[in-house]
Amino acid sequence: MSGILLTGVNGQLGWELQRTLAPLGQVVALTRAQLDLSQPDAIRRIVRAQRPGIIVNPAAYTAVDKAETEPELAHAINAVAPGVLAEEAQKIGALLVHYSTDYVFDGSQNAPYTEEDAPNPQSIYGKTKLAGEDAVRASGCAHVVLRTSWVYGVHGGNFVKTVLRLARERDALRIVADQFGAPTWARRLALCSAEILRQYRENPGDASRHGLFHLTAAGRTNWHGYAEEIVRLARQYDAALQDKELTIRAIATHEYPVAAKRPANSVLATDKVRKAFGLELPPWRDDLAACIEELYATEHQAL
Ligand SMILES: NC(=O)c1ccc[n+]([C@@H]2O[C@H](COP(=O)([O-])OP(=O)(O)OC[C@H]3O[C@@H](n4cnc5c(N)ncnc54)[C@H](OP(=O)(O)O)[C@@H]3O)[C@@H](O)[C@H]2O)c1
Repeated sequence: MSGILLTGVNGQLGWELQRTLAPLGQVVALTRAQLDLSQPDAIRRIVRAQRPGIIVNPAAYTAVDKAETEPELAHAINAVAPGVLAEEAQKIGALLVHYSTDYVFDGSQNAPYTEEDAPNPQSIYGKTKLAGEDAVRASGCAHVVLRTSWVYGVHGGNFVKTVLRLARERDALRIVADQFGAPTWARRLALCSAEILRQYRENPGDASRHGLFHLTAAGRTNWHGYAEEIVRLARQYDAALQDKELTIRAIATHEYPVAAKRPANSVLATDKVRKAFGLELPPWRDDLAACIEELYATEHQAL
C-alpha cells in the first residue's frame, strides 16, 4: 500500500486522524490552504501527483446553519469534492474513506436508523452531505462511508466547549431537550477508522467491508442531557464550576430558533459496523468523561 492522503487536518476529526493513521504508513495531511476542496482542479492535481493508496476525507462544510445561506459553497465542498476524490480514487485503484452525517435523516422515525433506512435530509447541510455519499457510491471506487453524529473533541470548536464556556459565564443555560442523538468522540472515530484501514489492508477484496456504515457512540441522549453531563463531569476539574449554582433548563426546539432544521431523532444503529469490523463503541458518557479529563489536563486555559 502506498501512502495515505488526508484532507481537513485542522478539523476535529482530521486532527485526530493525523495521529491515528500515522502507524499505517506515510500520511500526507493537508490543510484547507494546501487543498481547497471547493476547487475540483486542485483536488485532481494533488491526487494525481501523490497517487495515494488510500484517501481519507474528514474535511467538510460543517456550519449547519450558515449552509442555509451558502448552499453553493456547501454543495461544492460536501457533494462535488467527494465525487471528484472518488473519481480520482477509482482511476488509481485507491480506497476512499469518507464521512457523513446523521442529518441525512428527517428524524421522524422512533427507532435508531439503519443503513437501509431512507434518508430525507431537512437542511442544506444534510442534503449536500447526502449528495456527497451518492457521488462516492456512483463513482464505483472502493469506498467506506462512515456516517456519524454529534462529533466533539479536544481540538476545534464544538458543543462541549461551548457549554463549558457558557457555564462559567452565566447562571442559567437553556438547552434543547427534544432532539435525540449520540455524542461521538472524534478520537474514537479516528481509532475506529484506523482499525477499518488495518482490516482493509489485510483483505482488500472483502466486499462485506466496503460501503456505507453507521459509526457512533453507544446509547442516546438529548442536547439537554448532554449539557448536564458535560457540566457534571467538568465540576471535578474546574474550580470556577465546582460550587457554582447553575440552572440548566430544558427547552423545546421551537424555543431556540435557528436557520437549519434538525432531526428530532438521529440515533443511528451500529450493528453493521460491529458485524463487519468487530467495532463496538463505548457508551457516549464514557468517551465524554475521557475527553473532558483530557481537555482540562491539556487545554484548561483555552476553554
Ligand atoms: N461535527 C459534527 O457534529 C458532525 C456530525 C456528523 C457528521 N460529521 C461529519 O464528520 C466529518 C468531520 O467533522 P468535524 O467535526 O471534524 O468537522 P470540522 O471540525 O468542522 O472540520 C472540518 C474541516 O474541513 C475543512 N474544510 C472546510 N472547508 C474546506 C475546503 N473548502 N477545503 C478544504 N478543507 C475544508 C476545515 O478547514 P478549516 O480548519 O480551515 O476551517 C476543517 O479542517 C465531516 O464529514 C462532517 O460532515 C460531523
